[in-house]
Amino acid sequence: MKYYIKTFGCQMNVYDSGRIAGILQSLGCKEASGIRDADLVIFNTCHIREKAAEKVFSDLGRLNIIREERAAEGKETIIGVVGCVVQAEDEQIWKRAPFVDFAVGPLVYHRLPEIIAKVKRKRGNFIIDTDFPVETKFDFLPENNSSGACSFLAVQEGCDNFCTYCVVPYTRGAEYSRPVEDVLKEARRLVENGSLELNLLGQNVNSYHGEDKNGKERNLAFLLRRLAEIDGLRRIRYTTSYPADMDDELIECHHDLDKLMPYLHLPVQSGSDKILKSMNRRHTSGDYLRIVEKLYKANPKLKMSSDFIVGFPGETDADFQATLELVNQVKYIQAFSFKYSRRPGTPAAVMNGQIEEKIKKERLEILQKLLFDWQNKFNQSCIGQIMPVLFEHKGRHAGQLIGRTPYMQNLHAEVGTENLNHIINIKITAATVNSLSGTPEI
Ligand code: 5AD
Ligand code: SF4
Repeated sequence: MKYYIKTFGCQMNVYDSGRIAGILQSLGCKEASGIRDADLVIFNTCHIREKAAEKVFSDLGRLNIIREERAAEGKETIIGVVGCVVQAEDEQIWKRAPFVDFAVGPLVYHRLPEIIAKVKRKRGNFIIDTDFPVETKFDFLPENNSSGACSFLAVQEGCDNFCTYCVVPYTRGAEYSRPVEDVLKEARRLVENGSLELNLLGQNVNSYHGEDKNGKERNLAFLLRRLAEIDGLRRIRYTTSYPADMDDELIECHHDLDKLMPYLHLPVQSGSDKILKSMNRRHTSGDYLRIVEKLYKANPKLKMSSDFIVGFPGETDADFQATLELVNQVKYIQAFSFKYSRRPGTPAAVMNGQIEEKIKKERLEILQKLLFDWQNKFNQSCIGQIMPVLFEHKGRHAGQLIGRTPYMQNLHAEVGTENLNHIINIKITAATVNSLSGTPEI
């Protein structure tokens, strides 16, 4: 059987898709060259905003056409939907896409072999599993054998914060931290397979509290220090962090650990204390700025990125201005910004003071312009600097490679394909808002 996995949403989904591919390979499946070539198609889905979820259903409609075309050629296609849409929509998926064979929530991927076997036995029956199981999938998944210079590594999953706009506590369940030794084992394996960079993932990664060998709870700072000891590992990142969990021990790591990249994604969401309170965030804008100040002190080279939501219920012009002011204080070098999207079942969906679409759109445009200005300013300031770049992909032109700087900027350079999956010092010669280019510095 040949499989094809399409991934929507966040980095955790990218990681999960890799693990699902591992399960399928352990069953003897091979990766298909494209969606039309696949006997098993899996959509790994996202429910964070309405747009993300609707995209899944429109793509499923297109997939059904492919399924029918293949059926006309006498080929069967098994269709599976996994991930956050399954957890949120449950059997509704089947109502909107009756041709789907199975649906599996994010916490039970380890049951896929059983589910796929069942589907093969009894075609035509919809199989759904949206359990929040007592066992953890991590104990049952085959070893993570992904290769590549940059790898994701899930260390924590789920969220107990219950921000009032967010589906994650409902789709990914309560916080769970993987044991320290399990993380270290997977990290060593990834490094042996060629990873130079590890990006530790968790919906609330800095609340990590995994058990060590002796059953003692350890925090993310401890885990980072242990990971930094791995020979051959050159770069460590972690994402996504929650401001209130940014403790001093973790901030110290940004001073002490050279392998920890000088770039931190720390979503603030809004600059208005009134809106932050209504979002049920456990920080004020002042708290956030104090944390950023400590981080900048711990590592003066560190730069920040964030997520923002505009048009949250009750957001006035003054609240929005407070967000713009905070952007100017922190000087983010990258950010993701969104219009508030009402998610069924979340507290904010039924709050008074919902903001009309036109205002959300205007505010998003203003915010994005400001964010792009800061991003561009930083990129321009890099011209003339020498930065170590990890080259991960081939570029469009012969001999051109694309890599990432310590600050996650994309960089193109003519360095020769022998430097793929290597870190090379590059002198930055040009910059746009979205990427840099440069030449090797010998
Ligand atoms: N509407 C808009 N943006 C949202 N996010 C999460 N939930 C919503 C929502 N209902 C954004 C937050 C979060 C990022 C992953 O997605 O900014 O940090
Ligand atoms: Fe989307 Fe959140 Fe699920 Fe990631 S965890 S796929 S962002 S809903």
